[in-house]
Amino acid sequence: MPQAAWWQTGIIYQIYPRSFMDRNGDGVGDLQGIIAQLDHLVWLGVNAIWLSPIFPSPMADFGYDVSDYTAIHPLFGTLADFDALLEAAHARGLKLILDLVPNHTSDQHPWFQQARASRDNPKRDWYIWRDAQPDGSPPNNWAAYFGGSMWTWDAATKQYYLHSFLPEQPDLNWRNPEVKAAIFDAVRFWLDRGVDGFRVDVIDRMLKDEQFRDNPVNPDFVPGRDNLAAGGAQQRVYSENQPGIHALIAELRAVFDAYDDRVLIGEIAYSTDPTVITTHYGGSAAPEQHLPINFALLLLPWEVEALRAFIAAYEAALPAGGWPNYVLSNHDQPRIASKLGDAEARIAAMLLLTLRGTPFVYYGDEIGMHNVPIPQDQVQDPQGINMPGTSRDPERTPMQWHDGPNAGFSTATPWLPIADDYLTVNVEAERADPHSILNLYRRLIAYRRDTPALTLGAYQALDSGELADTVLVYERQHENQRVVVALNFAADPKTISLPAGQGRIGVSTHMERSGETVALDRLVLRPHEGLIVEVV
Ligand code: GLC
Repeated sequence: MPQAAWWQTGIIYQIYPRSFMDRNGDGVGDLQGIIAQLDHLVWLGVNAIWLSPIFPSPMADFGYDVSDYTAIHPLFGTLADFDALLEAAHARGLKLILDLVPNHTSDQHPWFQQARASRDNPKRDWYIWRDAQPDGSPPNNWAAYFGGSMWTWDAATKQYYLHSFLPEQPDLNWRNPEVKAAIFDAVRFWLDRGVDGFRVDVIDRMLKDEQFRDNPVNPDFVPGRDNLAAGGAQQRVYSENQPGIHALIAELRAVFDAYDDRVLIGEIAYSTDPTVITTHYGGSAAPEQHLPINFALLLLPWEVEALRAFIAAYEAALPAGGWPNYVLSNHDQPRIASKLGDAEARIAAMLLLTLRGTPFVYYGDEIGMHNVPIPQDQVQDPQGINMPGTSRDPERTPMQWHDGPNAGFSTATPWLPIADDYLTVNVEAERADPHSILNLYRRLIAYRRDTPALTLGAYQALDSGELADTVLVYERQHENQRVVVALNFAADPKTISLPAGQGRIGVSTHMERSGETVALDRLVLRPHEGLIVEVV
C-alpha cells in the first residue's frame, strides 16, 4: 500500500481570517494574528490550515469577490506577511491551503472593468454577456444564490452579465481559454511560493449551459436557511454540473500534479446523495479532486439511522483510491454546538474524528463556539441582508481566546460582535478545564494520530440491535488493531451488546474512564456519551 498522503491522515482546520486574531488593532483579523496563534493549532494537533480568501477584495462577499488573485488584501497584511506565515506554518509542520474563487471575480477586478468598458474590448468575452429578451427582461430565469436574478443589466453596453451570486460578483466565462490560462497562472503563483493546496469555491458551477436554458422550479422548496444549501428555489440543472466540468477540473488538477504533494479540495453541491460527491474524484486516467467536500453530516437529520445509512452508502460509492472526508460546519453554516446542543457537539466531534477520511474542523468549533445572534439592521453578510433569516454572520464571529476585553481577539471593536458566553467559552479557560470540549478535541486528535486503525483503517458498521436508532456503533480496523466507536445519541444511559470480547477505553466524550477495561457484550454508555474502545 502506498504511503498515505498528509491530506489523508491529517486534519484540516479552517480559519476565517477576518475573525481569527487581530494583531494590528483594526477590529479585523490578519495574517500576523494567525502567525501569533499558530501554537494553538500545534497544541491542538491539527495538520493543515485552510484560509478563507485573503486576496484584495472590495468585500462585497467578504473576500469571495476577488479583485486581484496574486496579492494580499492590505486588511490582512502584505505578501511579506504571507511569506512569513507560510514559513512559520511549515516550521511547525503545518500545511497551508488557500481558497481559490474561480467561478467569479469582483466587479472591481480590472478584467471586469475592461470587459464592461465596451462590447469589443478584448476582455469582454472573459465574462458572460447576453442580450435582453425582446421585452427587455433577462435572458433566462436563473435565480442568484443570494436572491434576485443571476443577470444584471449593463446600461452602458446594453447587455446583461451573469452572476451566480451578487451583481458585484460577475461569473467568469470558463469556455474562454484565456480565462483558464489566467486562473491557472494564479494557482501556479501560489504553488510556486510553497502553498500546499487549494480549496476551490463552487468548483462544480464553473460551466453554464451553452444554450442558457431556463432552470425548472423546485416544487419542494420552502424558503428558509436550511433549504438554501440543498439548492434553493430552482433545480439548477442548467447552471451547475454541466457537461465538460469534469474535463475542466481534470485540467486544473494537472496544474497541481506538476508539483509534489499538493491537495485539490473542491466545494461541490451540498448533497446527501453520495454519488453526487463521488463523481468528482475522476478516474486514474484523468484524476479530478483529491477531496470533493462531503457536507452530509451537516445536512442530514442528526439521527443514528440517517447517519449510518449515509456512511454505508458513501463508503460503497467511493471509487478505487477515492479518499473520504467529513465536515461538521463552515463559514456558511450554523455552528454545530448551536444546531445540535453542547452535549451533542461532543458526540459530533467524536464522530468526525473517528470516521474514515479527512476531517475538516471549523475554527472555534473546538471550543464549542455558538452562533451569535445579530439584529437584522446590523447584519453584514449580503446573503442575510438580501434574504433575512439566512445571515452567515452568526458563525463568523471573532475567536474567543480568553476572558479579557474582546475575548483577546482585538484591542479595537471587532467587526462582528463577540459572543456573550466568551467569559467561559474561550481557549484559555477551556485549556485549564480537563473536561472541556477543547480538551476533548485535543484528546481525540492525539488519539487518532497515534492509532493507525483510525487514520488508515477500514470502516465497518456494527449492529447495536434494539438500540439501532439511538446508538451508532462501528469498528475501524488496521492490521491487528481493532477500535470500536460507540456513540449514544440519547439523553439516558444505554447498554449495548457487541460480540463478546474485552476492550480498553481510549477516549470518552465525558473525558473520564480512560484506560478502563470493559466487556464488549455489556458496554455501558452514559447519557450522550461516546466511547472509543480498543479491542484487546
Ligand atoms: C461559496 C463560499 C461562500 C461564498 C460563495 C460565493 O459557497 O463558501 O462563502 O459566499 O461561495 O463565492
